[in-house]
Amino acid sequence: MALLEVNNLCRSFGGLRAVNNVSFRVNTGTIKAVIGPNGAGKTTLFNLIAGALKPDGGSILFNGRSIYGLPPFRVAAAGISRTFQNIKLFGNMTVAENIMVGRHTRSGSGFAASMLSLPRTRREEREIAERAAELARLFGIEDVLDAGAASLDFGRQRAVEFARALASEPQLLLLDEPAAGLNIYETNELAKRIVRIRDMGITILLIEHDMSLVMDISDEIAVLSYGEKIAEGPPCNVRNNPQVIAVYLGGDVAQD
Ligand SMILES: Nc1ncnc2c1ncn2[C@@H]1O[C@H](COP(=O)(O)OP(=O)(O)OP(=O)(O)O)[C@@H](O)[C@H]1O
Ligand SMILES: [Mg+2]
Repeated sequence: MALLEVNNLCRSFGGLRAVNNVSFRVNTGTIKAVIGPNGAGKTTLFNLIAGALKPDGGSILFNGRSIYGLPPFRVAAAGISRTFQNIKLFGNMTVAENIMVGRHTRSGSGFAASMLSLPRTRREEREIAERAAELARLFGIEDVLDAGAASLDFGRQRAVEFARALASEPQLLLLDEPAAGLNIYETNELAKRIVRIRDMGITILLIEHDMSLVMDISDEIAVLSYGEKIAEGPPCNVRNNPQVIAVYLGGDVAQD
């Protein structure tokens, strides 16, 4: 069964059809990439799934249940987590605190409590801190747990955002251009981590312009252009699709 199933999803901004009748599925335990030129509607698609934007029509099923139109905290509670195209960290908080914020959306005291800073049990707090340290190790940032998030270089800030997204123990992780701004070494590390996360059983939906990364790690790729899905399939098929080459792969694809 598909973990995520999107059918005929639509969203316009004024007269612009940013996402136009898009349908696709993401199978459990796979990495699916969404690619396409700048302005194709990729981030809008993520915002619709994550609840940051309200759809105009269509359906979104997660684990067979509708999450269509739900607010972000309910989508998160259902098991979907995300990173943003522009990093969104709490600059005045430490790395550990930033990661723990992600965990708090899932902890027993609940989302409302975490937002209102209601007291949690000490055991709960200790477990959250231990989990944050574990995630930091996975992303190679365990040595900066107590540093201010704003003091880190770009690559490490991205790692913190990643760890925070995983802290809620999602079933589905939405990654919006995670390689943007990373150097080749960091991108290679990122690729290994994404595969490792998939192998941990977390399904991944990935927006990315770095085509070597996409072609290397994706099980399936969907291609958007002007809000519409123009192709879908395994990397080898998509890479050789004449329409995809014409609108995207043939040109300069190193766009951020
Ligand atoms: N909040 C908004 N209000 C108005 N127009 C918007 C809004 N968000 C996105 N758009 C427009 O919708 C279209 C799709 O934008 P979107 O950000 O989804 O593209 P994208 O595929 O993520 O592009 P990129 O690769 O540059 O990140 C663009 O034309 C954009 O200008
Ligand atoms: Mg985008």
